Amino acid sequence: MRDDIEKILIDEEVIHRRLDTMAARIEKDFPEDTLIAIILLKGALVFAADLLRRVPRKLEVECLNVASYHGGMESSGTVNFLDRHFPEVKDRHVLLLDDILDTGRTLRAVADRLIEEGAIKVHTAVLLSKDKARAEDVEADYVGFAIADEFVVGYGLDYQGKYRNLPYVGVLKQSAI
Ligand code: IMP
Ligand code: MG
Repeated sequence: MRDDIEKILIDEEVIHRRLDTMAARIEKDFPEDTLIAIILLKGALVFAADLLRRVPRKLEVECLNVASYHGGMESSGTVNFLDRHFPEVKDRHVLLLDDILDTGRTLRAVADRLIEEGAIKVHTAVLLSKDKARAEDVEADYVGFAIADEFVVGYGLDYQGKYRNLPYVGVLKQSAI
């Protein structure tokens, strides 16, 4: 797997140090027992596990399965909700966690749905934010790292379902694509 990586963009230690800072801010921003964290699967799995364990607050955790990339390197333009059950968010503050903010369609669609379902407010946290013009007018409240507009894998992010378990964020070799 590591042979497929052209370069490491953000190494594990740097990610963990940044998560300490993000978690401290989240802890400061939300009182005990007010928050429901919603993890967008599968991309935000690793990020959320590492971030939320650093937030010493009573909170609830839910997951949502959405698809927009269908495994490739281009956003499909539509966001599909894949779960039969939607978490109960009425009158709650939601912290929505995703791996990366790219076109913005995913965060926009999920945040809109959460508000429709009665959430008071949707706060958003992403590990990565691509520095580019978005299709939807959306920015995250908590951002780990701003990166250039290139395709990355690792730390939860996949290419065709693989590389999510790399402990760092990296760029694939041309030969692996
Ligand atoms: P958006 O809806 O275009 O903002 O894209 C968000 C989703 O696209 C993320 O949750 C990722 O699953 C996926 N995505 C966007 N950029 C990348 C990337 O560089 N590598 C892997 N997945 C990506
Ligand atoms: Mg994804």
